[in-house]
Amino acid sequence: MKKLAKKVRKRYNKPIMTKPIILTGDRPTGKLHIGHYIGSLKNRVAMQNEGKYDTFIMMADQQALTDHAKEPEKIRESVGDVALDYLAVGLDPAKTTIFIQSQIPELAELSAYYMNLVSLNRVLRNPTVKTEIDQKNFGEGVPAGFAMYPISQAADITAFKATHVPVGNDQAPMIEQTREIVRAFNHAYNCEVLVEPEGIYPENEAAGRLPGLDGNAKMSKSLNNGIFLADDADTVQKKVMSMYTDPTHVNVADPGHIEGNMVFYYLDVFGRPEDATEIASMKEQYQAGGLGDVKTKRFLLEVLERELAPIRERRAEFAKDMGEVYNMLKKGSEYAESVAAQTLAVAKTAMGINYFG
Ligand code: TRP
Repeated sequence: MKKLAKKVRKRYNKPIMTKPIILTGDRPTGKLHIGHYIGSLKNRVAMQNEGKYDTFIMMADQQALTDHAKEPEKIRESVGDVALDYLAVGLDPAKTTIFIQSQIPELAELSAYYMNLVSLNRVLRNPTVKTEIDQKNFGEGVPAGFAMYPISQAADITAFKATHVPVGNDQAPMIEQTREIVRAFNHAYNCEVLVEPEGIYPENEAAGRLPGLDGNAKMSKSLNNGIFLADDADTVQKKVMSMYTDPTHVNVADPGHIEGNMVFYYLDVFGRPEDATEIASMKEQYQAGGLGDVKTKRFLLEVLERELAPIRERRAEFAKDMGEVYNMLKKGSEYAESVAAQTLAVAKTAMGINYFG
């Protein structure tokens, strides 16, 4: 008997250790580009393969609809594209749960309860939401759903009890708002149901926000200044050859600038440690004069293709069977729903709205 009591103590007197949980996601509004890859996807794959975390990756189609309500077909198409991009870079459904936000109604239900714990003023003060509202010129007014999306994002994160949320720096206000909601909920219902997440931000500043091929601060589909993971080799070559370099570097013999020169920027970001010497000597030669843009671009193309060719190949392979891809998303969504449903049930119990036992 004593022995059993000891065993029981041993098992339950310490906190039950589960793996830390990662959740992150993307709005599916187009194919993913090399900025997404170097800024986040590559890191997600590394974390997945470390095996230290339970990993959830969500396609935030419902969030995408908050500013694309009238183009659902664009979002629908992007879900397939983004799924292929995920698989192509090495996200592995055997290790990571990949799922679609709209297929988990529990998330919307949790959001509805969270909305009562956040003031309207607080939501409208979110700096990322404010910037987006300024940029998006919502002609007919800001959709209420758009202004509320940080609350739904808090539901995404907390439904899975995520401890870590790897995101870009622009998402820091969402994490902060989620933490506030967690505290407000646990306090209001005198419980510890929800977990306060921590953001994980890009370590490498230059990779965190890759500028466009034209030198614009942002790589994006609408600016037509990106290289996409789905681009074929010819397209990548054409794009690299058209990159913004140094407008004052007219003749090969002229001294050139490397600051603000996208070719060198990308070389710094995509070069591997073994390329460092070569990159350093090219920079020296470029600044001294005597190194032409075509040569630097050819080298960058090699560096990029080393990374992109295998991704492109895998993408094409997965694209042959979209039925399987959607089956993977369905299975992932079913599993994700089972996890979110548990959190929701416990949350409703904490709120006392579990009427039927
Ligand atoms: N807002 C994120 C973006 O625009 C996408 C997103 C939705 C997300 N829900 C999330 C990211 C939950 C992390 C966690 O990129």
